[in-house]
Amino acid sequence: MTATQPLWLRCETKTAEHRSALTPTTAKKLIDQGFIITVERDPQRIFDDEEFEKVGCTLVDHHTWPQAPKDTPIIGLKELDAPGPDLQHTHIQFAHCYKHQEGWVDVLARFKRGGGKLYDLEFLEDANGRRVAAFGWHAGFAGAALGLIGLADQLEGNTLGKQTAYPNEDALLEVTRKAVETIRKHRSDGKVKSLVIGALGRCGRGAIDCLEKSGCASDEIVRWDIQETSAKHGPYQEILDADLFVNCIYLSKKIPSFIDRAFIEKAGKDRRLGMIVDVSCDTTNPNNPLPVYSINTTFDKPTVDVELDAGLPKMEVISIDHLPTLLPREASEQFSHDLLPSLLQLPNVTGAAGDKALQQADQEGKGAVWVRAERLFKKHLAEAEANGA
Ligand SMILES: NC(=O)c1ccc[n+]([C@@H]2O[C@H](COP(=O)([O-])OP(=O)(O)OC[C@H]3O[C@@H](n4cnc5c(N)ncnc54)[C@H](O)[C@@H]3O)[C@@H](O)[C@H]2O)c1
Repeated sequence: MTATQPLWLRCETKTAEHRSALTPTTAKKLIDQGFIITVERDPQRIFDDEEFEKVGCTLVDHHTWPQAPKDTPIIGLKELDAPGPDLQHTHIQFAHCYKHQEGWVDVLARFKRGGGKLYDLEFLEDANGRRVAAFGWHAGFAGAALGLIGLADQLEGNTLGKQTAYPNEDALLEVTRKAVETIRKHRSDGKVKSLVIGALGRCGRGAIDCLEKSGCASDEIVRWDIQETSAKHGPYQEILDADLFVNCIYLSKKIPSFIDRAFIEKAGKDRRLGMIVDVSCDTTNPNNPLPVYSINTTFDKPTVDVELDAGLPKMEVISIDHLPTLLPREASEQFSHDLLPSLLQLPNVTGAAGDKALQQADQEGKGAVWVRAERLFKKHLAEAEANGA
């Protein structure tokens, strides 16, 4: 590569967000390919600033991206603080505004006013429509882990307390293995039964990996995906027959509830289920197939009780919508690794040539992932304009 490509890693401002879109490993690979990487100092990032410095990144002060040269793309993960300044740069991030989330018009209006662009990480797709990078696997892994730990606590008469990020997967598995042993002691058949729905997806596969590595036998884990839930209608007795239920589906339409309060109450004391982990977290979606709770829980207070008739055994839900942050190092490494091939295509679509470069990249198939992202941005911007942006 001859041309140099600037890229600016900004800090994250969302509380307890330790993940990073670039890691020292991927930054080094980009630098080796001619990128010039600027990294904002960030005390909450799981990677030390020095780790980036060592591989050749230029360190700058925390939250200084608004002063970055206009043609430098800014990469980060979570949404920017709002309200905030007009956005002049190209931002690569999860902006959470393409599905008409709260404040979506305001977010896009900031790009319109500043003349910047959004390449939303949630919608970066390859030619087959598959997302190029996603955190799902680690969300499922972390969700299942918290489910096991929380259930063990519940059976011992406690409630899962504040959780903080683990330095690595092994440290988390040490805790989940103990939890599995605790749950076994409370079960007359000595089994820890779990049911994962959405088992074939990213989150589902991560959840199953965690359960297996935590010491659950393969025949203790029931794996359901679309085939099983389309074969018969919910609510499902199989969910009540598991100790732990992990919901990992990608909800795209209204479906019959997987369980509901009346169904749980009808089963009386005759059920195993004590813990639900709703990785999918369609909490406020009117089509949520788990209408047994109504709030997202947090790492500070990870569980919420399902309100049931007095005298019934406890049932709790974990509905944290940023689960991968429990394992920030591994989750960032995997995400950034998957994003790398697309980042390496950035020089084909950015720079002085602007739209012309984009057109050429489109024709040559180089950087097509960004071309599609740009089209999507323009589509949503037009929609925001129609709604007052
Ligand atoms: N809580 C978090 O921190 C977190 C993090 C990442 C993703 N998510 C969410 O998790 C969900 C799943 O993400 P993913 O990346 O694993 O998606 P995915 O597309 O990889 O997998 C979803 C799976 O659900 C299955 N499915 C869809 N409808 C179903 C149904 N009615 N019955 C049974 N199976 C069904 C699909 O066949 C697929 O195998 C998404 O809603 C995503 O937003 C949550």
